[in-house]
Amino acid sequence: MTTASSSPNSAFIKYWGNRNNPLRLPVADSFSMSLDGPTVEIDIEHSDALKVISFNPDGTQLELGEKHVNRFGKTLDMTKEYLTKLGAPDAIPASVSITVRSNIPPAVGLASSAAVFSCLAKAIQGLVAPVIELTNDQTSVIGRLGSGSAGRSVHGGFVALVAGEGEEIDSSYGKQFADQNHWTLHDIIVVPTMLEKKVGSTEGHATAQTSPGYNDRVEAIMSRRQQECIDAVLKKDFEKLTAVCEEDVLDMHHVMQTSNPPLNYLTDDTHRITNGIIELRISEHLPVFYTMDAGPTVQLICTDESVDRVREFAYAQEGCKVFEAKTGGGARIVREVALSA
Ligand code: PMV
Repeated sequence: MTTASSSPNSAFIKYWGNRNNPLRLPVADSFSMSLDGPTVEIDIEHSDALKVISFNPDGTQLELGEKHVNRFGKTLDMTKEYLTKLGAPDAIPASVSITVRSNIPPAVGLASSAAVFSCLAKAIQGLVAPVIELTNDQTSVIGRLGSGSAGRSVHGGFVALVAGEGEEIDSSYGKQFADQNHWTLHDIIVVPTMLEKKVGSTEGHATAQTSPGYNDRVEAIMSRRQQECIDAVLKKDFEKLTAVCEEDVLDMHHVMQTSNPPLNYLTDDTHRITNGIIELRISEHLPVFYTMDAGPTVQLICTDESVDRVREFAYAQEGCKVFEAKTGGGARIVREVALSA
């Protein structure tokens, strides 16, 4: 049995839209910072039939719907296809049993699927190691097959999901640009509602290209934004990072809102929080920027210098829950136990 652990990531340049939906091959590059929490742990072991058991943060068992179990099944099938391509068709047993223990509060607005599928990928890396040694870039392909953004959380620190070209299963993968020791940034997460979102990102990716703004978005990322973000991170230029990340998040939400059907993930609470942080940034010259994924939750990214003040601002937001994270090390194997037959 192999046990792995992982956490979500905070997307600086957002992944939105696929050139191949079943394989989750993105249209454009994206970039994120892996977080040090909250964590998910997954055990994977041989079994007669596919079994997926999931536990909530409070230890109670989560009843997984058919859709969720199928997502694991499909990811495993595609992983077998990928391992066949790598010359190791029998590296994964016919069936496996997967136990997920999540410390991520449900609907926290942090991509729990990124944590879960990067964790699964890492656990698979451990499981297949006696047959084939996968690199982390190869392991990120497996993560991506379950959830595009999971392709980034396999690595720690600052990571791109390189879109690549063509239809090959491994044409898009996670690439680390700097590890977690390069720069500590904090992510203060302000959650206005714990209600589950109605339209998940898998459905959203499928309609992204109906937006008239989509092609311009891809062009801006591929010709400039992704590189600006990478340069800002490598040079630790927080001002430049703020400008490019806020430009990109607003652009992604514009694309979402102009898609067919339109997706409006942002609420009055989101706007109140983002306006408040802009005011604070200007009046107190604080290094902090905001970003939102497919939900109303606002992530406030800041430096050691500003984190205390940003925390104070976050906890003062009425009716909101606050979670704290910082730059983290990506997915890792925590235990490997040889089970006797
Ligand atoms: O990995 P997915 O399919 O859950 O897509 C993630 C989409 C966003 O969170 C909106 C953006 C991102 O890059 O994480």
